Amino acid sequence: MSAKVRVDLHGAPVTMLATLHAKALDAEAPTSILHDTWAVEAVERIDYDWTATSMTRRNAPSVTLRSAYFDGWTRQFLAAHPEAVVVHLGCGLDSRFWRTEPGPGVEWFDIDYPEVADLRRKVYPPAPGNHIIAASVTDPGLLAQIPDDRPTLVLAEGLTMYLTRDDGLRLFGGVVDRFGGGEIQFDAFSRFGIATQWGNAVVRRSGATLSWGVDRPDDILAAVPNTRLLQWVPVFQREVFAPAPPRYRHLAAMLNRVPLLRTVAQFHRYAF
Ligand SMILES: C[S@@+](CC[C@H](N)C(=O)[O-])C[C@H]1O[C@@H](n2cnc3c(N)ncnc32)[C@H](O)[C@@H]1O
Repeated sequence: MSAKVRVDLHGAPVTMLATLHAKALDAEAPTSILHDTWAVEAVERIDYDWTATSMTRRNAPSVTLRSAYFDGWTRQFLAAHPEAVVVHLGCGLDSRFWRTEPGPGVEWFDIDYPEVADLRRKVYPPAPGNHIIAASVTDPGLLAQIPDDRPTLVLAEGLTMYLTRDDGLRLFGGVVDRFGGGEIQFDAFSRFGIATQWGNAVVRRSGATLSWGVDRPDDILAAVPNTRLLQWVPVFQREVFAPAPPRYRHLAAMLNRVPLLRTVAQFHRYAF
């Protein structure tokens, strides 16, 4: 009898199998960017036809460069705030908690739909300071379950595009209202990226539909009071691709010169 965990996911949750698989493939490559050995173990624990994710060693950096970049921002926040609360929205099976090694003063909340949270509990061991909340990030009661007495990092990687604009802005507005201060870090697709989502094999195969496009920081600053821009990084910038092999760096430099493509995906970081 197999001890592997079965998965039965539909829509947006399916996409986190692709990001997980990308991280596992990357970890086994000689040129690994993220070194996510937790992803390798998670993939081994799950009974799934991983070829269905469309991820390969070759395209895995499209995921792992982003994750590595957000790991860097997370580490910076944790270094400045060793007693932080981390709110990891749409976490999927991401192992950022273990990769970034938060200190004992940190309370970390991994949040995703109930079916993903359930899988997470089966795949990863419990750890002190690590909490899993099974909920949609649009659940109006979600933030009230999280302590509001410390500097708070709200992190959403690969999530905002699955939300409607109204839900996304309500979520970020709710974060600013609830927590005393901290940062919101997330990635977004531009409206052009949303309009061309048919070109995204991972999304297409999942059956999910992308909705919210963000073109520039002003889209957030104008709609979420009491936020201040810290960093805005279009994805093909040199600093994102620095850990990638040369052929990816050359491709990124070319794409960075094409106006519509330059901002097709961006990383955002705000203080509140
Ligand atoms: C592309 S995956 C990214 C997963 C993870 N952050 C990573 O980078 O590997 C998108 C994740 O967002 C989650 N998600 C999408 N909409 C959500 C919602 N309304 N509430 C909670 N999670 C959501 C999905 O279930 C999925 O785990």
